[in-house]
Amino acid sequence: MISNCILLDLPKIPDHRGNLTFIESQKQVSFKIERVYYLYDVPGGEERGGHAHKKVVEFIIAISGSFEVVLDDGVKKRSFFLNRAYYGLYVPSMIWRELRNFSLGSVCLVLASLPYDESDYYRDYDEFLRAVRGQH
Ligand code: TYD
Repeated sequence: MISNCILLDLPKIPDHRGNLTFIESQKQVSFKIERVYYLYDVPGGEERGGHAHKKVVEFIIAISGSFEVVLDDGVKKRSFFLNRAYYGLYVPSMIWRELRNFSLGSVCLVLASLPYDESDYYRDYDEFLRAVRGQH
């Protein structure tokens, strides 16, 4: 459900040498981190995402720059603007996500709860809708 998608404030250690933010598995993120991937060098105007996961839960961070994440549970949509390295967006399974409006040079870091497995994806929106509506 969209209400389970939460924007969290991560710890930030301010320092005149620069700020530091940390994440430990099952602490700042509720799940065990099994995979990390990142999106970078995204050309202007490009969109990423366009899928939902059957099981994987993710935590999305704008490590540099900014972008918009539109989340959709099949009933409601909500848009989050990520523009701080100490914000993290928790995305449960069965949520369709689209990432867009990447600023130049932005980096999107994603922490995921399971190794990559293509069979965990819904890449067709209508198929996702049928699956999510079948759950209720
Ligand atoms: P894709 O799911 O299209 O990226 P996005 O989340 O931006 O829509 O993934 C692009 C390609 O990368 C696709 O062929 C699957 C592959 N991939 C992996 O091999 N491992 C991974 O952990 C991820 C996230 C993707």
